[in-house]
Amino acid sequence: MKVLLTGGAGYIGSHTIVEMYAAGRDVVVVDNFVNSSPRVMERVEEITGKKTPVYNADVADEAALDRIFAEHKIDAVVHFAGLKAVGESVRMPLEYYANNIDSTLALLRAMKKADVRKLIFSSSATVYGTPEKCPITEDMHTGDCSNPYGWTKFMIEQILKDYSHANPEMQVILLRYFNPVGAHKSGRIGESPRGIPNNLMPYITQVAVGKRAELSVYGNDYPTPDGTGVRDYIHVVDLARGHVAALNYDKNGVGIFNLGTGVGYSVLDMVKAFSTVNHVPVPYRIVERRPGDIATCYANSEKAEKELGWHAEYGLEDMVRDSWNWQSHNPNGYED
Ligand code: NAD
Ligand code: UD1
Repeated sequence: MKVLLTGGAGYIGSHTIVEMYAAGRDVVVVDNFVNSSPRVMERVEEITGKKTPVYNADVADEAALDRIFAEHKIDAVVHFAGLKAVGESVRMPLEYYANNIDSTLALLRAMKKADVRKLIFSSSATVYGTPEKCPITEDMHTGDCSNPYGWTKFMIEQILKDYSHANPEMQVILLRYFNPVGAHKSGRIGESPRGIPNNLMPYITQVAVGKRAELSVYGNDYPTPDGTGVRDYIHVVDLARGHVAALNYDKNGVGIFNLGTGVGYSVLDMVKAFSTVNHVPVPYRIVERRPGDIATCYANSEKAEKELGWHAEYGLEDMVRDSWNWQSHNPNGYED
């Protein structure tokens, strides 16, 4: 089975390539490197011993996709490609809607021509907006997203549902990721954000490595055990394996799955675990809440366990250890 990964050079995509090969799948990548480095592919080759065909193209370029589908007999597509920075999406909504939605439309048209029927889409827990309760199940209300990035995920989910309805031979799988952290245990691939990190774990690792002075903890007056925000952090290797499991899902129509651990940790839990496991201090300061943040968000992932035979295996210690292993060996990410 040959799988096309759009955005395969990114953080989650690169880890997924490794797990796809480990499961005996073949991989082709298309990425325009708007948020990744071509060096990622050298590192993936080091880990896997395989040379992955990589096309440097925009997924919105339908002719480029046509060429890829003509050159490879693709059985399934995992669609990671997209812009994902929440704050940037607020400042540049048109770029976000254009990039994320146009690429999906072009991909669907090219898949139709090539008769490729299986599509796995990178959605996000952000589609639940402010969840009415936790743990979150897949049938809960979606919408009320707090930023354009979140709305692109919501809208693409709707596009895929409508498309699947009109094309009943399609198998569409929407994977709603919770908060991916960690890195491959080799320390050769990991998350390498451009500029100041938006997300908690890369910020913690950059403080620990001395690139930033201290972590700002956004609020300690939430209705949570220690007052700081609670999230469902999931090891990126577990998440990557969720995509391999999804390849075996062969029901027509749309399957929707949460990929999380089902456990929520607070910001201070993360800071403490990171310092304790890695023996590195992480100075922090409590500051104002970040606009748009919610108090608590964690998954019920039983549906993925039941229907995909997948569950997360790594725990908090693995997550903080592997994040640090990556950052401490690559203080500047792929820019070294
Ligand atoms: P990433 O930015 O590391 O990877 C995305 C990749 O897509 C990058 O390599 C980028 O260069 C590429 N890309 C973007 N637009 C493209 C286009 N038009 N054509 C070709 N390539 C393009 O992000 P990631 O963390 O690996 O996330 C992968 C997917 O998962 C994204 O769709 C993201 O929105 C979604 N997601 C991520 C998280 C997270 O916290 N990391 C959470 C939920 C959902
Ligand atoms: C963010 C995005 C969400 C996206 C998700 C995964 C926002 C508003 N939401 O969610 O759309 O799907 O990432 O990529 O950005 N925190 C700090 N200090 C920091 C960074 C974060 O205290 O410097 C706290 C946050 O307040 C939150 C927790 O850490 O309580 C996790 O934050 P983050 O990693 O940004 O993820 P989400 O807020 O879940």
